[in-house]
Amino acid sequence: MNRLAPSRDRLRIAIQKSGRLGTPARELLERLGLRFQESRDCLFCHGETAPIDLLLVRDDDIPGLIADGVCDLGVVGRNVLLEQAGERSAVRLPPAFREVRALGFGACRLSLAVPEEQEWQGIEQLAGRRIATSYPALLRAWMADNAIQAEVVVLSGSVEIAPRLGQADAICDLVSSGATLAANRLKAVGDILGSEAVLAGPAAPFDDARAELADMLLRRIDGVLRIRDSKLLLFQASRESLPGLLPLLPDAEPPTICAIDGGDTLALQSLCHGAVTWQRLEELKRAGACGLMVLPVERMLA
Ligand code: PRP
Ligand code: ZN
Repeated sequence: MNRLAPSRDRLRIAIQKSGRLGTPARELLERLGLRFQESRDCLFCHGETAPIDLLLVRDDDIPGLIADGVCDLGVVGRNVLLEQAGERSAVRLPPAFREVRALGFGACRLSLAVPEEQEWQGIEQLAGRRIATSYPALLRAWMADNAIQAEVVVLSGSVEIAPRLGQADAICDLVSSGATLAANRLKAVGDILGSEAVLAGPAAPFDDARAELADMLLRRIDGVLRIRDSKLLLFQASRESLPGLLPLLPDAEPPTICAIDGGDTLALQSLCHGAVTWQRLEELKRAGACGLMVLPVERMLA
C-alpha cells in the first residue's frame, strides 16, 4: 500500500493548505514548538526544530494520505474523517485511520437544512425527498438510524445552492458560523454530527522511530490542551480563612500551600482551569485572600 514510503525516522503531518482549519492548525504546531522551513508555494515544509515535516494539502485528502502511508498524522475535521471511514467500510475496506485527539478548535456541525420559507414539522418530511450532500456515508447512516428513505444527491461542493437550482429539496452540509446557510436562504433543521478539528493517525501503531516522535507530539498536545484556558492564581491568606477559600476554587488543581510569616499566613498557588474573572477575585478577597495575582501559563508537561 505504501506507494510513496515516508522516511522512517521523520514524521510527516498533513494540515489544510487553506480554509477554516489551516490557520489554527499552524498556530497549534507553533505552540508545540515546531518550526518549519517555509518557501512560497511549497507544499512540503522541512521541520527545523524536530524531525517532523509538514505537508500542506486539501483537507479531504488527509485521511487518504494517512491510509496510503504518505503522511503519518493529520489535522482534519472529524466530519471528513468519519465520512471517509464510512465510505471505506461501505466497500469493505479495513479501517486505515483513526481519531487520535480532539483538538478543541474548528467546532462545527453537520446539519440538515431546508429553504427558509419551508414549514418544518420534523424529519419525516424528508421521506422521498432529494437531499444534496458531500457527506453521503454519514447522511446514509443517519437515514438508516432514523428510518428515513430519501434520495441522496452527492455533490463535491457548493451544496448550499442545490435547492435553488432545483437539484435537491434539502441539504446536509457543514455549518460553522451559519453565514453560508443564511446567504443561501436556508435554515438548519437538525444536526447529524458534532464536529471539530482532530488529530488523525493510522489505525495501526508506528513500529519505528516515528512511534517516539508521535508520543512526544501527543504529550505536547496534551500539555497545550490542558492549559488552554488555564491561569495560575497566586494569593496569600491566613490559615483560618483557608476552609472558606477552597470552595471558591472548584475548577482548580489542589493548591500548593506554603506557610510564611511564622506560620499564620499562607502563600498559595493554584492552577485554575476556568475563567478567573474580576468577580471571582473579589469573592476570594471577601473570603480573606489578599495579594491576588493571575498569571498566564506558557507551557505544561505533566
Ligand atoms: C464548510 C461548508 C460550508 C461552510 C459553512 O466548508 O462546506 O460551505 O464551511 O461555514 P459557515 O457556516 O461559517 O458559513 P469547509 O470549511 O469544510 O471547506 P471545504 O468544504 O471547502 O473543504
Ligand atoms: Zn474540504
